[in-house]
Amino acid sequence: MSHGLPLDRIRAETPGVEGVLHFNNAGSALPPQIVLDTVVRHLEREAAIGGYEAADEAAERLEAVYTSLSALIGAQPHQMAVVENATRAWDMAVYGYPFAKGDRVLTVRAEYASNVIALLQLRDQLGIEIVLIEDDADGQIDLAHLEAELNKGAAMVSMTHAPTNGGLINPAAPVGALCEQYGAFYVLDACQSAGQVPLDVAAIKCDVLSGTGRKYLRGPRGTGFLYTSERALERITPPFLDLHAATWTAADAYEVRDDAKRFENWETNYAGKLGLGAAVDYALELGVDATADRLIDLGAKLRNRLEELPGVAVHDKGAHRGGIVTFSVDGVESDALCADLRAQSINTSSSPARHARFDLPHRGVPTMVRASVHYYNTDDELDRFVSAVQDAAVERSRDVR
Ligand SMILES: Cc1ncc(COP(=O)(O)O)c(C=O)c1O
Repeated sequence: MSHGLPLDRIRAETPGVEGVLHFNNAGSALPPQIVLDTVVRHLEREAAIGGYEAADEAAERLEAVYTSLSALIGAQPHQMAVVENATRAWDMAVYGYPFAKGDRVLTVRAEYASNVIALLQLRDQLGIEIVLIEDDADGQIDLAHLEAELNKGAAMVSMTHAPTNGGLINPAAPVGALCEQYGAFYVLDACQSAGQVPLDVAAIKCDVLSGTGRKYLRGPRGTGFLYTSERALERITPPFLDLHAATWTAADAYEVRDDAKRFENWETNYAGKLGLGAAVDYALELGVDATADRLIDLGAKLRNRLEELPGVAVHDKGAHRGGIVTFSVDGVESDALCADLRAQSINTSSSPARHARFDLPHRGVPTMVRASVHYYNTDDELDRFVSAVQDAAVERSRDVR
């Protein structure tokens, strides 16, 4: 089913599909031609007329990137910052939050490793307390447990919407409703969900949302973005400032700018920023509702097909699942399987426990293969993938015996 998407056109506009079977969209998706052209053209202009001059020439298009990003998530352009990746976006907000000693931060089993490392550092530096909210029977955040912990008092809820290591899509809006009810500041890591599923910050009611360019949005590497609500803009001071984020107003004074660009820094990758804008416009033109429906279907099909293979265990959890499919094969090292597939131009990645210590050891799940599909993938690619997994598994088990 194409879900009304012009699949032939989409594939024709994705040069990478000619050479690879790309199921590593949760790593970095194949960009559409327009993203490639936008980046290359800007680099060419920089080479032809000078970097500053090329930025001046592209000023309107650079500003339009904020309009595109805000349209993607239902925000206002002044609430958006463009930074180098999702981690820095998240860091700028969380390290800038005015924590007091003893503040409780509630987080989830699916929380991204870098976020947890940052929270642990803030625990060590500032004395915040990290409280882990359990999963419910479906494997998503347990809303009853969340409410019980919010009721005890919490400064912040930090939740990963869609984890790096599985199909789970956490219920972002019900969490937002509870945060609003209990007055907790809500930080949503939408790194894997941006471009994968529709996002609307007004419905989700998050204070902060972080995202990246290269994954489901199909933008260039080294691009990311941050959304901050009005309350977040008032409350968060960037952990570091420069002459873009602030103005040096007198010899001993500075003023922080009042929009979300205060979380950016002066030097940036202009070609990447324009490429990010092109990627978001492409996503908006196709419609994230339609692309989400298609990739969710492809993900579900892939899970079913893999589950039918002998010795294969699929590890995705959650009541709602997207395009990230994780599995392991009995007696076969996941890294070795990924390498075998890569040798056949089939791209996947592996998810080890150290990337998800709140989750994988808790579930007793080994290092998994992550096969992440996008809307531009096809049923034929699913077939080829499943038979390649089967063949590689048989080969590997023969070697072990
Ligand atoms: C859920 C999640 N959050 C954050 C990140 C970090 O994103 P970035 O590499 O753009 O900083 C990732 C990257 O895989 C991720 O999967």
